[in-house]
Amino acid sequence: MKPEDFLTRKSVVELETNSEEETFAVGKRIAESLTAGMVVALRGTLGSGKTCLAKGIAGGLKIKENVTSPTYTIINEYDTTPPLFHIDAYRLNNDEDFEQIGGRELIGGGGIYVIEWSERIPKSLPSDAVAVELEITGSSSRLIRVFGLELK
Ligand SMILES: Nc1ncnc2c1ncn2[C@@H]1O[C@H](COP(=O)(O)OP(=O)(O)O)[C@@H](O)[C@H]1O
Ligand SMILES: [Mg+2]
Repeated sequence: MKPEDFLTRKSVVELETNSEEETFAVGKRIAESLTAGMVVALRGTLGSGKTCLAKGIAGGLKIKENVTSPTYTIINEYDTTPPLFHIDAYRLNNDEDFEQIGGRELIGGGGIYVIEWSERIPKSLPSDAVAVELEITGSSSRLIRVFGLELK
């Protein structure tokens, strides 16, 4: 899925948050609608709140462990049912790199996959991936657009 394809999705939910806690809460809300096998492709510049939102998703999936950014590990796995895979493609150059670390095979499984810097691996994202775009609109405000997922 190419990044521009996100924009053609029918369902778009737009939310504005004014704190880290509010973005975490949006993640929790997204988690309520996620089921096994789903890929959540996050997009947004450094500091836009991708990791914060991913922590909220983990919280919503009842993960008690401390969730940290997978910037260096690239893939962090959390043992829940279904398991959560928190992926950060920042240090990958492209889809080929992702394939080499077994990423493409991984996201075809029955887990939930939350991917930061997903725009770096566009060809690896399934066409039914949920896309979340985060935009910095102020020092503590973020515009969050969720494509392709009905929120509860
Ligand atoms: N509304 C907001 N939502 C999320 N983070 C915010 C918000 N306002 C300010 N911040 C700050 O922005 C930073 C977001 O960091 P992080 O989630 O690691 O972003 P990313 O993973 O996109 O680089 C944190 O320092 C956080 O305190
Ligand atoms: Mg991050």
